[in-house]
Amino acid sequence: MRTSPSGLRWTECGIPPIVPGTLEERRVVQTLAAARQPPGLQHRQRAPHPDHDHHLGRGLVLSTIGLHGRYLNRTTLFGLDLHRPWTLLVLTGCGVALLLAASRADLVAAADAERRRIERDLHDGTQQRLVSLAMNLGITRASTTGLPDSAREAIENAHDEAKQALSELRDFVRGLHPAVLDDLGLDAALSGVTARCPVPVRLRTDLPQRLPDQIEQVAYFVVSEALTNAVKHAEASTVEADVRQVPSFSGRGRLRVVVRDDGRGGARPDRGSGLRGLAQRVASVDGTLHLDSPLGGPTTIRVELPCEL
Ligand SMILES: Nc1ncnc2c1ncn2[C@@H]1O[C@H](COP(=O)(O)OP(=O)(O)OP(=O)(O)O)[C@@H](O)[C@H]1O
Ligand SMILES: [Mg+2]
Repeated sequence: MRTSPSGLRWTECGIPPIVPGTLEERRVVQTLAAARQPPGLQHRQRAPHPDHDHHLGRGLVLSTIGLHGRYLNRTTLFGLDLHRPWTLLVLTGCGVALLLAASRADLVAAADAERRRIERDLHDGTQQRLVSLAMNLGITRASTTGLPDSAREAIENAHDEAKQALSELRDFVRGLHPAVLDDLGLDAALSGVTARCPVPVRLRTDLPQRLPDQIEQVAYFVVSEALTNAVKHAEASTVEADVRQVPSFSGRGRLRVVVRDDGRGGARPDRGSGLRGLAQRVASVDGTLHLDSPLGGPTTIRVELPCEL
């Protein structure tokens, strides 16, 4: 953490200059686009400008913050509220320092909090209304006699639809943030999601300890989306899911999630939002995702997430 003479505090970490067209550049651009701009911040369309004439603290150059055609000058930098999710790019000698990791974690945490809020609102509002609608229609269905066939049929259909809507809403809410993850952990949450799957699933887990919340959540969403896809698209007859902690060469552990269905294959991330969403979630915690889905099948999704063992 550094402090400027005016009291502004920031953290810096050095990385090599960002090379156009690389994954790193895409991440920076996405993070900049996703972060909300603080008031007064200006983007100017101009080539990066190595203007090293203002020095702060121990020789840190802060005059121009550049990123391929966009730059922030020192004045706009000083307007940044560092407590908000924001990527701070700082030109140092030859490289660019950035708070990319911190900012990305902030964004993911903010998205999680928002999902929890939506879950609560849906649970307390729409879900309760649907419960009472379904109950009232059930009572009407059971107690009304002497109606013409068409009216009776309409009540029955409305009752069935209300129950179906309730069940879909419950599935949706569960997918937003499964409460069982908080309470019992990944193992129990996966047992639940695989038990509810209409296609038989063979689940193997080796999870000796609880993992960081974000890692558990990403793993849970990977398995649920893969199962949903297997049911929706694959015409699979069985699915195998394997979730385990494995050691890595670096000494830091990994969580490996592999889901394979024996369906017809041909999964295409560009044809929907589920697989793309998974890739983004996985990337947000610095994990990797590989999809193998030749026409004729099988389909395998393999995800590795960093986590301490
Ligand atoms: N396991 C699978 N087997 C065969 N095809 C698949 C499988 N998973 C996905 N697909 C194909 O890839 C496409 C993209 O999947 P994706 O999960 O991204 O979107 P989706 O399931 O169609 O919609 P959603 O946004 O609700 O997930 C699907 O529309 C489907 O055609
Ligand atoms: Mg899908």
